Amino acid sequence: MLDLDRIRHDTRGVATVNHLNNAGASLMPAPVADAVVGYLREEERYGGYETARARRDDLEDVYDALAALLSVGPSELAITDNATRAWDLAFYGLRFGSGDRILTTTTEYAANYIAYLQIARRTGAIVDVVPDAATGEIDVDALDAMIDDRVKVVSMNHMPTNSGLLNPVAAVGAVTRRHGVPFLLDACQTVGQVPIDVDEIGCDLLTGTSRKFLRGPRGVGFLYVRSSMLDRLEPPMLDLHGATWVAADRYEVRPDARRFELWERNLAGEVGLAVAVRYALDVGVQAIWGRVRHLAERLRWALAEVPGVTVTDIGAERGAIVTFTVAGMAPAAVRDVLAADRINVSVSSRAAARLDMERRHLEAVVRASPHYFNTEAEVDALVAAVDRLAGGVTYG
Ligand SMILES: Cc1ncc(COP(=O)(O)O)c(C=O)c1O
Repeated sequence: MLDLDRIRHDTRGVATVNHLNNAGASLMPAPVADAVVGYLREEERYGGYETARARRDDLEDVYDALAALLSVGPSELAITDNATRAWDLAFYGLRFGSGDRILTTTTEYAANYIAYLQIARRTGAIVDVVPDAATGEIDVDALDAMIDDRVKVVSMNHMPTNSGLLNPVAAVGAVTRRHGVPFLLDACQTVGQVPIDVDEIGCDLLTGTSRKFLRGPRGVGFLYVRSSMLDRLEPPMLDLHGATWVAADRYEVRPDARRFELWERNLAGEVGLAVAVRYALDVGVQAIWGRVRHLAERLRWALAEVPGVTVTDIGAERGAIVTFTVAGMAPAAVRDVLAADRINVSVSSRAAARLDMERRHLEAVVRASPHYFNTEAEVDALVAAVDRLAGGVTYG
């Protein structure tokens, strides 16, 4: 059981805001924020390089903590600036030629899809979108039928940016393994929310970010590379940390996934991420998943009862992203009115997940994303505020 009193005590922000924007950036727990600030204070007093040496063990812990969270080896992890950069390092590290195929989903995130389009333009590769099952998640049988020897990667999200839909990634992994096709999983919205065991999923590459459901600081992300994939990827760029200049005309690449990293980075953020991952492990990801699903379902059901509100989530199984529209009001206006009430939500626009939004004729949706530290009362306060808004539009 999750100790909500302690968790809320640790979450200073709950005294100031009703924070339902955890899919944007969550509220850091106090130990995380304190670790980041404490590290910066040490840099201020002792110098950046000197602090890095003195805090070597804490800096290493980010790998061990993430390895425990994902059930992977620490040498299979690289720390990056954010999830997009981690994802880019993996995707642009794959080799594509004319006619090669990239298989993805209808709900793909814009940054990833833009990269598919760029690689398609540059190499003549083809982007093929796997159809959905009737409930909105990827149709795994359709995926299976689409794979042939031109497919160079299956690349998709675990949960999209614009709905709580949870894709059946273990079933996808079973298919990609059977065909021997690399599986790149964008787990940006699920790490810290959904229990993740990379071997159970069967993905070869996985990316995540610190600031969302992991509740870490901004400006940090990570890449997991299955050790057997390391030599099938060419790091799109290397520096003197990813490789060593061993002779005038030769360099040697590091043996582990840190070949994807750069030497210079946000070390205060990394210490904070390590503490955030330990915090999530301490709360228990299984317990987190149970609680966020409960809060999100409560929110969906209550919002659906409000006249003028349409809940726009899809998926047979759904997590902590709840999206909706209010008749007659732009989603950005809804967000701004709620913000005046100190209720934090965000907006997903068409350009963030164009294929999905376009086919469902959605320009934008309000996105509310509770986390385990939220209370039922906070969720209900959002519903009451939306009810007042929708009532105002409908009746007066
Ligand atoms: C599904 C999905 N993938 C990737 C990203 C990118 O994450 P980051 O902003 O850390 O690069 C996001 C961010 O919202 C996302 O929702």
